[in-house]
Amino acid sequence: MTKKKKSGDKKSGRINTDDSTGLFLSENGNPEENKSEYAAKEEIEKLKEKIKDADYKYYVLAQPDIDDYEYDMMMKELESLEKKYPALQTEDSPTQRVSGEPINIFRTITHKYPMLSLSNSYNFEDLLEFDRRVESALGGEEYEYVCELKFDGIAVSLIYENGKLKTGATRGDGITGDDITKNLKIIKSIPLSVKSAVHKNFEVRGEVFIKKEDFERINEEQELRGEKTFANPRNTAAGTLKLKDSREVVLRPLNIFVYSLRSDDIRLKCHFENLKILEELKFPVNKYYKKLNGINEVKEYCDRIEEIRDTLPYEIDGVVVKIDSLRQQETAGYTSKSPKWAIAYKFKAKQKTTRINRITLQVGRTGTITPVAELEPVFLAGSTISRATLHNFDEIRRKDIREGDIAVIEKGGDVIPKVVEIIKEKREAGSREFPIPELCPVCNSKLERPEGEANIYCINYFCPAQVQGRILHFVQRDAMDIRGLGENITEIFIEKDFLKDITDIYRLKNRREELIKLERFGKKSIDNLLNSIEQSKQKPFEKVLYALGIRHIGDRTAKILAKSFADIYRLSSASAEEVSNVHEIGPKIAESVVKFFKDRKSSELIEKLQKSGLKFQVDTDTAKEEKEGFRNKTFVLTGTLEKYTRTQASELIEKYGGRVSSSVSKKTDFVIAGEEAGSKLDKAKSLGIKIISENEFEKMLL
Ligand code: IVH
Repeated sequence: MTKKKKSGDKKSGRINTDDSTGLFLSENGNPEENKSEYAAKEEIEKLKEKIKDADYKYYVLAQPDIDDYEYDMMMKELESLEKKYPALQTEDSPTQRVSGEPINIFRTITHKYPMLSLSNSYNFEDLLEFDRRVESALGGEEYEYVCELKFDGIAVSLIYENGKLKTGATRGDGITGDDITKNLKIIKSIPLSVKSAVHKNFEVRGEVFIKKEDFERINEEQELRGEKTFANPRNTAAGTLKLKDSREVVLRPLNIFVYSLRSDDIRLKCHFENLKILEELKFPVNKYYKKLNGINEVKEYCDRIEEIRDTLPYEIDGVVVKIDSLRQQETAGYTSKSPKWAIAYKFKAKQKTTRINRITLQVGRTGTITPVAELEPVFLAGSTISRATLHNFDEIRRKDIREGDIAVIEKGGDVIPKVVEIIKEKREAGSREFPIPELCPVCNSKLERPEGEANIYCINYFCPAQVQGRILHFVQRDAMDIRGLGENITEIFIEKDFLKDITDIYRLKNRREELIKLERFGKKSIDNLLNSIEQSKQKPFEKVLYALGIRHIGDRTAKILAKSFADIYRLSSASAEEVSNVHEIGPKIAESVVKFFKDRKSSELIEKLQKSGLKFQVDTDTAKEEKEGFRNKTFVLTGTLEKYTRTQASELIEKYGGRVSSSVSKKTDFVIAGEEAGSKLDKAKSLGIKIISENEFEKMLL
């Protein structure tokens, strides 16, 4: 079965659960219609159950028992019944896996419990040490371990309320993550609702991944479309989860294995049992988990998994070892970053030998010259490798790397493969040291090596390679998001003198007629590009700041700086000390910011972009205007508000200095209760937390 069908669009409506007779009264009171609506309800329920069961058998058990045709027919029938009776459509209907319009931004979700990382071990000695620490923390008590695979994907948290999937989030910085519920709903092995008398309100964590063979196929397709390929399955999964249009997500087969359960309803006892509960609730749990007695058994497990690693259809990078008893986990405790009751056993990075055919030089957007080994292609850890970075010329000398050498290459957890060493015995006679270049391979200008630095730079700001690098950085999705200026097109535009720098992007509209006449470009593609360029002028200051490509300023740093300084004038006149006084900004970043603004070219660049209409100050309507009642207060929203969507209400709270959390705890200050508020309201009452109505919330806004 290859169920790749898209589901119908989301319709509003809710089942009237107050109808005690079980019969729904239609508005016109026609008894015939009442009867058919009742029958429809039964039919819808039956179809939903059957589809849910088919998804479970196909996506979780990998044992489908019906064919594609039968499945498609059921889905069609369900869609048509729901279309006819919109009031009978529920949130957890399989038709709702793909729904709605693309979104602009992912809402931020504060995790109920921080999403920590794991400390690593690389050999048996490390494992023994971990075991000794556990033993001493538990003061001589007996204990057992549970071992699982360490999946190389993206960690997510799923919140279920009243048995229904409410939200799904990325790990983010561990404290807050992005709300990616819409994209996660597309993964058919994730139940949209669970049937259990006991487990209704709980959190499940797991790892979203893409299978090795799907990754290869996606990359082939990307290449055919002339789009950027992904470095590995993990990046593909990460990129997919962050797509703003869930209809694009459907085309990328995401999977998940879940490995953690936390319940609000009952006290859980041990991790092994939790995995069994998750299986009973029909979540996809990887079958290799095992309870083990003693660290020697753990070691045997790790060795066995390392042996079968390559035969698995998905990537793993090790094993996770966890204390089984949850009580003992609490006793062992946590550091600020990771639990002391668990450890990751990381496999050695995979290595292969291959020939370095040539050494080429790459010019980055800041002028750095990076030597790259062009390799005889080899398949390693899930993908074909044909290039490896040599970092800099010190590294080439230290490892004595030459063209024609046979090299050991390695791909660890990192994306970029590297040369570990050269097999000197296999070196061809007459090979020569690779010369340190003196001229830029692209613009031929003289290269410079600043005192004490390992890097060599091309200092010609207008070097076409740097220009192209700056443009590609500027237009990327996370920056100005200009569609239609990919690698090949920018190269042509630079060559034909349409682009000499990023400021020229906003002048392209004056050369529309010439552009249309270019070979391979039509009116439509040029107009789409020009449109996208115009739209980019609406991008907020933080994106513009990131797009400028200041060294060490990533998108998160740009956001922090934009918020703290509010406009480019304040930022450009700040001293290094003032910049590094900002929380989370270190001296290296501060120095880079100050250096950038000191350069006359930067002020010219900013002036030109400003004239083109880009934003160099935060929007006043989205700027924080803290209000007394909101500052540092935590709000939880429950039920349906009449005048605001959840996103709107959350944005208002955040704008006025408050935080929004998805669950009620002692730390909650206010619960805003809308229509049909559920378990969160009960919990708030039991904890004595202030509950406010939509009207009261509105008054606070005044
Ligand atoms: S348990 C406190 N179990 O590894 C962290 N994590 O380095 C508890 N991961 O962010 C996590 N497979 O993304 C756990 N079987 C597994 C895992 C697993 C992969 C990832 C997860 C986490 C990272 C920690």
